[in-house]
Amino acid sequence: LSIGVFDSGLGGISVLRHVRRLLPEADLIYVADRARAPYGRRPLAEVRLFSEQLTEHLLAEGAGLIVLACNTASAAALHHLRARHPSIPFVGMEPALKPAAALTHTGVVAVLATDATFQGDLFASLVDRYADNVEVLRQPCPGWVELVERGELEGEAAEASIRRHLEPVLAGGADVLVLGCTHFPFLIPLMRKVAPNVALIDPSEAVAQQVFRVASEQGLAGDAALLEFEVSGDLDRVAGIVDRLSGMKVVPAVLTLSS
Ligand code: DGL
Repeated sequence: LSIGVFDSGLGGISVLRHVRRLLPEADLIYVADRARAPYGRRPLAEVRLFSEQLTEHLLAEGAGLIVLACNTASAAALHHLRARHPSIPFVGMEPALKPAAALTHTGVVAVLATDATFQGDLFASLVDRYADNVEVLRQPCPGWVELVERGELEGEAAEASIRRHLEPVLAGGADVLVLGCTHFPFLIPLMRKVAPNVALIDPSEAVAQQVFRVASEQGLAGDAALLEFEVSGDLDRVAGIVDRLSGMKVVPAVLTLSS
């Protein structure tokens, strides 16, 4: 059995790279649904359907644990997947509002995530539970997912896009930014440049630690260290971008979904 990881695209590599570090021997299958990315502006019901298809695919490939390395898919489908596959452990993402609320001095925190993530019940319940005494600014950052998919992590155009979406939350007094999309950790150097005085909360390592705990319980620590990397859509230039994001040598294969 292996550990299956999926995202709409390459963003989930931010989680995958920590999983590989914590579980160097585990067999991993990563699925990037690039042909249908970005998920963030799609209806939740559609993202739920895609998440179910990717889960079925990973289970058919022998995954014994599924990681939703995508906040949007987690918001749309995590509850549903757990109910549908009660014997399979799932690890998902959620915006880290609790540590953000503990950290802010200004009383204003900003969550950077997709429109779909903000729409789900999951986000509303996080705000209810953890953000009673803080103001939460919701900032969708259109274009950032595409920057990461293109491997465009620096340069004037990328920096201008980061600046455009951070300016309103900085003007609103936010001193903590929650990275609520798995693509965004790759843009941290630019965020630091544009907003040097705010705290950034990147949950990817904590999520990988949760994967480590669950995988250890399930006996999925592995011994072959395989990494299968499957991508829907065009494979052109993907290998180079994946190597750069992951720091690993990856040979992407075409993902074909049966349904
Ligand atoms: N990586 C994603 C997330 O964490 C999905 C972004 C998208 O496809 O819009 O939400």
